Amino acid sequence: MAGIRDVKACVFDAYGTLFDVHSAVKRYRKRIGEHAQPLSVLWRTRQLEYTWLRSLMGAHADFWQITGDALDYAMRTYGLFDGRLREDLMRAYHELDCYPEVKDSLAALKRRGIRTAILSNGTRGMIEAATAAAGLDELIDDICTVDELRIYKPHPKVYRLACERLALPAERISFQSANAWDAAGAAYFGMRVVWINRAGAQPERIPNLPDAELASLAGLPDLIG
Ligand code: LAC
Repeated sequence: MAGIRDVKACVFDAYGTLFDVHSAVKRYRKRIGEHAQPLSVLWRTRQLEYTWLRSLMGAHADFWQITGDALDYAMRTYGLFDGRLREDLMRAYHELDCYPEVKDSLAALKRRGIRTAILSNGTRGMIEAATAAAGLDELIDDICTVDELRIYKPHPKVYRLACERLALPAERISFQSANAWDAAGAAYFGMRVVWINRAGAQPERIPNLPDAELASLAGLPDLIG
């Protein structure tokens, strides 16, 4: 695979890319029972759909509220009416596990002089909490969130925010996302893009193709450096 050269910064999506969104439900798997896995999938699916719907409707709500709304929908779907469980799951979302290769990959990029940043739909509070809980504070230089923009990825304004914050043109940034639609949004905007295809999914049929595809972040430093 051809390397991605001349980039100054690696910008990462947060949920699904650095942090395992399913680790919240996994912690309470026994309490939830047989619906644990489909609950987690529906929670994530509705969370993303609500960001897109609210962006199209011009009815912004922050990602914490959307995450709670999506959890309420998913819990009701599976007949779970347990306020304590809801609280525990929401708390767990502040402290999601990061994927096992994340720290080494970020450290290797920094050793090579590459700046690191997060660009997420999450609120600043959510991303700061997750980053601190996973021990990534020292490995991430900048956190960019959509709080002030009041619109979600894949709107171009969001990718532009990262360029402005880092004072870099799009083509000097490599954007990493495990979410194919997010990878497409960044590529359409003009960033260099690595799709972290953790699930071994088919490429989406939307513009634009990523520059590269990896199964995890482990190979990223070699691809960039
Ligand atoms: C994020 C979601 C989209 O972190 O994964 O922005």
